[in-house]
Amino acid sequence: MKILVTGGAGYIASHTNVELLNAGYEVVVIDNLINSDKESIRRVEKLTGKKITFYEADICNKEALEAVFEKETIDAVIHFAGLKAVGESCQIPLTYFDNNLCGTIYLLEMMKKYDVKTLVFSSSATVYGLPESVPITEDFPLSVSNPYGRTKLMIEDMLRDIYQADNGWDIAILRYFNPIGAHESGEIGEAPNGIPNNLLPYVAKVAAGELDYVRVFGDDYDTPDGTGVRDYIHVVDLALGHIKSLEKLKQHPGLVTYNLGTGVGYSVLDIIHNFEKACHKTIPYQIVERRPGDIDICYADAKKAKEELGWEATRSIDVMCEDAWRWQSKNPKGYAK
Ligand code: NAD
Ligand code: WQD
Repeated sequence: MKILVTGGAGYIASHTNVELLNAGYEVVVIDNLINSDKESIRRVEKLTGKKITFYEADICNKEALEAVFEKETIDAVIHFAGLKAVGESCQIPLTYFDNNLCGTIYLLEMMKKYDVKTLVFSSSATVYGLPESVPITEDFPLSVSNPYGRTKLMIEDMLRDIYQADNGWDIAILRYFNPIGAHESGEIGEAPNGIPNNLLPYVAKVAAGELDYVRVFGDDYDTPDGTGVRDYIHVVDLALGHIKSLEKLKQHPGLVTYNLGTGVGYSVLDIIHNFEKACHKTIPYQIVERRPGDIDICYADAKKAKEELGWEATRSIDVMCEDAWRWQSKNPKGYAK
């Protein structure tokens, strides 16, 4: 089976590509490298001993996208391509709407034209907005508070409408919680441009001595230690969820939606202390103001994916931190030479 992976040079996609190739799938990647490096493709090929067909192109470029569908006989698409920085999306919302929404519309048009109606889509727990309680099940009300989140919810809505109009589609909407960690080899991992926005890469850079201290955004939340609680999931567990979803789609289930999380919440201070164990260093931190838009607590009810996909996350928070540290130590500059 040949899988088109959009955004296939990125963080989650590179780990998914390893699992796809190891499971015997052929992988075709389209990525414009706006937030990634072609070196990730080379490293995945090295890790697996298998080739990836790589197209450096923008999914918003209809001709380039069509050329891929024309040349390759695609069986299914995993759609990762998109911009993902919440703060940036508030500053340049139109860029986010253009890239994430138009890119997805062009992709869906091409899939329809070439009769490729099997899709796995990268959604996010951000579509639950401010959840009324935890754990969060897939039928919770949906709402968003920033342009990035809005693109995810709008794409989900588009997919539900498309399926409603033509139930020949098979679509898995995967709502990721907080992906962290890296491949155990230390060869692939998260390589954010500039100063990281997300907690884990920030903590890793403090541990490496590149940044002075972690700013903990608030300690007066309604959580056990007052700092924000999230459902951190190892990126390899997340990647394996995509393989299980593809297997599910082979059974023609129609449109399905799954939370991909662990079902366990850790606070910011838990993460800092677990990372200290992994890197054998003290990580300095300071409590600062809350970050606008943050919620106190968010973790998944992961039962549906377990029951219907036969998937569950198995890697512990210790392993997540150890793998993230191995990647950081081996690649202080990310993929840059
Ligand atoms: P990433 O930035 O590492 O990967 C996204 C990839 O898409 C990058 O390689 C980028 O170059 C590419 N891309 C962006 N726009 C493109 C375009 N127009 N044409 C071609 N390629 C394009 O991010 P990631 O963390 O691996 O996230 C992958 C997907 O998962 C994204 O859709 C993201 O919104 C979603 N997601 C991520 C998280 C997270 O915390 N990392 C959580 C929930 C959902
Ligand atoms: C985690 C916790 C912060 C940085 C974001 C997106 C979400 C999804 C995943 C894509 C929070 C605290 C953070 C720091 C801190 N992405 N924190 N100091 O906000 O849960 O989710 O990434 O879909 O849509 O919103 O992740 O890693 O930024 O924050 O104290 O320097 O760490 O307040 O409690 P978040 P995060």
